[in-house]
Amino acid sequence: MRKYFIQTFGCQMNEHDSEIIAGMLEEKGMTRTDAAADAGVIIFNTCSVRENADKRFFGTLGQVKKKKKNEPGTIVCVCGCMMQQQHIIDTVKTKYPWVDIIFGTHNIHKLPELLTNVMNEKERQIDVWPEGGEIVEGLPSKRLFSCKALVNIMYGCNNFCTYCIVPYTRGRERSRKPENVLNEVKALVSDGVREVMLLGQNVNSYRGDEKTDFAELIYRLNEIEGLDRIRFMTSHPKDLSDRLIKAFADCGSLCRNIHLPVQSGSSRVLEMMNRKYNRDQYMELVDRIRETVPEITISSDIMVGFPGETEEDFLDTLDLIERVRYDSAFTFLYSPRKGTPAAEDPDQIPEEIKHDRFNRMVELINGISAEKNAAMEGRVEDVLVEGASKNSIDALAGRTDGFKLVNFRGDRSLIGQIVPVRITKGKTFSLEGELI
Ligand code: SAH
Ligand code: SF4
Ligand code: F3S
Repeated sequence: MRKYFIQTFGCQMNEHDSEIIAGMLEEKGMTRTDAAADAGVIIFNTCSVRENADKRFFGTLGQVKKKKKNEPGTIVCVCGCMMQQQHIIDTVKTKYPWVDIIFGTHNIHKLPELLTNVMNEKERQIDVWPEGGEIVEGLPSKRLFSCKALVNIMYGCNNFCTYCIVPYTRGRERSRKPENVLNEVKALVSDGVREVMLLGQNVNSYRGDEKTDFAELIYRLNEIEGLDRIRFMTSHPKDLSDRLIKAFADCGSLCRNIHLPVQSGSSRVLEMMNRKYNRDQYMELVDRIRETVPEITISSDIMVGFPGETEEDFLDTLDLIERVRYDSAFTFLYSPRKGTPAAEDPDQIPEEIKHDRFNRMVELINGISAEKNAAMEGRVEDVLVEGASKNSIDALAGRTDGFKLVNFRGDRSLIGQIVPVRITKGKTFSLEGELI
C-alpha cells in the first residue's frame, strides 16, 4: 500500500487540517512516513502569512522535481492558504508542472476523491473554492499527540487587519454548533485526550447559537468529565468579554494562560492596522485579567516595521512590552502581502531599520522571559507529559498549566499523565525540572 508524507508550513489551524488529511488518507489504507523519499503521495500544506513561508514552500516544491522524474507514479499535492490565491495557483501551474493536485482551505474533504481521479485519469486536478460552504462535520483526524488535541470551533476571519492575508485565504467567520464541538471533545476524551486547544482566528467572536458565545462554550466544556485542560487561541483583544475573564476564575479545566496578540504598542500604528483597540485599552484589559487571575501567564504576537512606523511608535511598543511583561512573545518583521491594504502603502520601512528594531525588541522580550522563568525556580507545577524531550533521550517534555515547556528526567510510561514537577532552572524558552 502507498505511504504518504505530509509537511505543514502554517499555524495550528493548518496543523489541524493536516491531521484531518492524514486521517482521511489512513482511512484509505495508507500509512504515514516521515521521509518524503519513501512516499507515494506527497502533500504540502502551505501558509501565506509572511513571505518567508511562501519562499520555503517553493524551495521545498522545487526539490520534489527529481523524485517525480525518477518515480513518475509519485502523486504531489499542494493545499493550504497559499492555494487560495490565484497568482500562486498560476505560478504552480506554470513553474511546477509536476504538481498533480491543487486544493484549498475550504475543501480538504475532497482530497480522497481528487486522489482517486488522478490515479484513474492521470490528469492534474485543480479544485479550489473561493469561499467556505457548509461546515463539513465528522471528518477523521490522525492526531500528532495522543494526550492532547486541536479542535476547531470556528473558521475564517472578519477582522481584516490591514497587514493580514488570512481573511482572504480562510474566508468569512463561521462557527461550529456547540453540540458538534462538545461531542467531538467527549469522543476525544474517551480516546485518551486530556487537553484540548480550541482553535479560531478570533475565538472571542464565536457564536454557536443564540445562547452560546465563547464564554458559554468554555463553561459547557468545563463540565466534561475526564477533560483536564482547556486552552484556546487566538483571542482578539477588541472583544474579549468580562464573562471570559470570569471563566478563568470559575472553570477548573481552563488553563491559566492567554495568548493576547498586541501587534504594536503605538495607538497610531494600531489604528493603521485596523486593530480596533488602542494601547491604553489593551493595557487596561491586561490589568483586568490579572486582577481576576493573578497567576495567569500572558503571551503575544508583536510585529515591527509596519508601514509608517516611526522610531517613536517603536519605542511605544518597547514600553508596552516592559509594562505588560509577557511570559513569551512571537515576534515578526512586517511582510507585505499581495492584496492587503498595508502592502499598497508607499511608506514601507527599509529592511535594515526593520531588522534593527526587531533585534532590540527580541532582546527585551527574551530578557523578560528569562526573568519570569527564573522566578519559577523552586515551584512545583503540574505538568502534562507530552512525549520524549528533544534535548536528551532519557528526558521527558511537557507543559505547565501556564503553557511553559518543562524538560525533566522520567520514564516514558508517564507520557500522557499529569505529574508534579519541581522547577530547578528557568531558562529563556523553557524550564528544567525534577519529578517528585
Ligand atoms: N488571528 C490571529 C493571528 C493569526 S496570524 C490574531 O489575530 O491574533 C499570526 C500572527 O502573524 C499575527 O498575530 C501577526 O502578528 C503575524 N502576521 C500576520 N500577518 C503578518 C504580516 N503581513 N507580516 C508580519 N507578521 C504578520
Ligand atoms: Fe489576521 Fe487580524 Fe484576522 Fe488575526 S484577526 S487572522 S491578524 S485579520
Ligand atoms: Fe498561515 Fe493560513 Fe494559518 S496563512 S498562519 S496557515 S491561517
